[in-house]
Amino acid sequence: MTNESMDEVYRPQYHFSAQTGWINDPNGLVFYKGRYHLFFQHNPFGTQWGNMTWGHAVSADLLHWRQLENALLPDKLGTMFSGSAVVDWNNTSGLQSGPETAIVVLYTAAGGTSEESKGQPFTQCLAYSTDAGDTLTKYEGNPVLPHVAKENRDPKVAWFAPGGYWVMALYLDGNTYALYSSSDLKAWEHLHNIEMQGCSECPDFFEAPIEGDEGERRWVLTAANGKYLVGRFDGRLFVPETVEPVQVDFGANYYAVQTYSDIPDGPASRRDGRRIQIAWMAGGAYPGMGFNQQMSFPCEMKLMRTVAGLRLTRQPVAEITTLYSTTRAWGDLLLTQPIVLSQHDLLDLTIECDVHPDAEVVLDIRGERLTFSAAQGALTCLGKTAPLAPVSGHVTLRVLVDRASIEVFGNGGLISMTSCFTPAPSASQTVLLGSGAKVTSLVVHELNTAWD
Ligand code: FRU
Repeated sequence: MTNESMDEVYRPQYHFSAQTGWINDPNGLVFYKGRYHLFFQHNPFGTQWGNMTWGHAVSADLLHWRQLENALLPDKLGTMFSGSAVVDWNNTSGLQSGPETAIVVLYTAAGGTSEESKGQPFTQCLAYSTDAGDTLTKYEGNPVLPHVAKENRDPKVAWFAPGGYWVMALYLDGNTYALYSSSDLKAWEHLHNIEMQGCSECPDFFEAPIEGDEGERRWVLTAANGKYLVGRFDGRLFVPETVEPVQVDFGANYYAVQTYSDIPDGPASRRDGRRIQIAWMAGGAYPGMGFNQQMSFPCEMKLMRTVAGLRLTRQPVAEITTLYSTTRAWGDLLLTQPIVLSQHDLLDLTIECDVHPDAEVVLDIRGERLTFSAAQGALTCLGKTAPLAPVSGHVTLRVLVDRASIEVFGNGGLISMTSCFTPAPSASQTVLLGSGAKVTSLVVHELNTAWD
């Protein structure tokens, strides 16, 4: 499949959307031999949720996506719900049959969600690729993990290097998740259950280094809504250090988050070994379009020590710079009158300001207002509010604008807001206004489309 014309009014130009039909969760995010795979929940037959199938796209840079044939189709065990993928470097599964290392996918067969699977429960199944991820083959011994509870689903697998085995995080029911271990990705042993208040669905479980703290690492468990616990994991027991799940994103459209597996480690100077997350921008409207829903921009997640404790930050991946076309920069401006920043619909802009205690910084983006209020210590956009306090009187806002989204990153990604929007086609200007703020740096990049 190639990319058709991707130029509709609300067609995201550097965010992933399917050529046609509905999409939701990112699935099976895995990097292998220079390609980022993005599988996704897909309805190939309509623009509403249903007929869950794994769609598939690949990219060398997380910007330019090529959609391939659908990878997993519904079967007697159910329709294809969410899951994850890993590269089985040591052939623990024994599924490698040629020169390519096997990529192994764990997914949920949602029994009872189709005529064909009537009466079946939700189970966890395995599929694998022996052609570098081009196609997936279902394992003949499915399911690999029988039904545990209610609509248990969304297995996310990670390699536990010190033990030389795999761990899986699985959503069970209510606010309950479970961890499992396996030596071959086929036979799974229950480790223990974990409660995450206010959370459900789509766990992710990964280890991350603490920035600036040589050799220190922690494990992070996230839920579909992106809230996370940080803690220690000895291969059997995950012990959170955070008291309750921490929220990083405050926008209206951030859900079913998942991070990439198998991005190779590398020297810090190349910023490799990154932990890159994609969310489904759940909700949002795309009136009149033949597609429905989009993915968030891929973000690098880092674990930082802050006064509040260990926190994840989110920042757009650096690859975005390759889309820059025109750049304009300003310095040392007092916000007294509106400044027109751009007439373009694709932007990556950063504002750094010194703010008075009662300052306001307002961006009017094609008729939608993004407001930072120093007095309230808050950022407001598209009906949602995020806490954001100046640090030593200074605030940084980075804003990505696409045809149907606004993503905001405050103070180096300590908070973010991921939101869809539907601007009137006639509204083209992005304008900066406000009072009581001195802009120390303002850089506006206009972007090229990523669709060839
Ligand atoms: C999250 C979710 C998952 C499920 C999938 C079905 O958005 O409900 O729990 O696997 O979507 O499409």
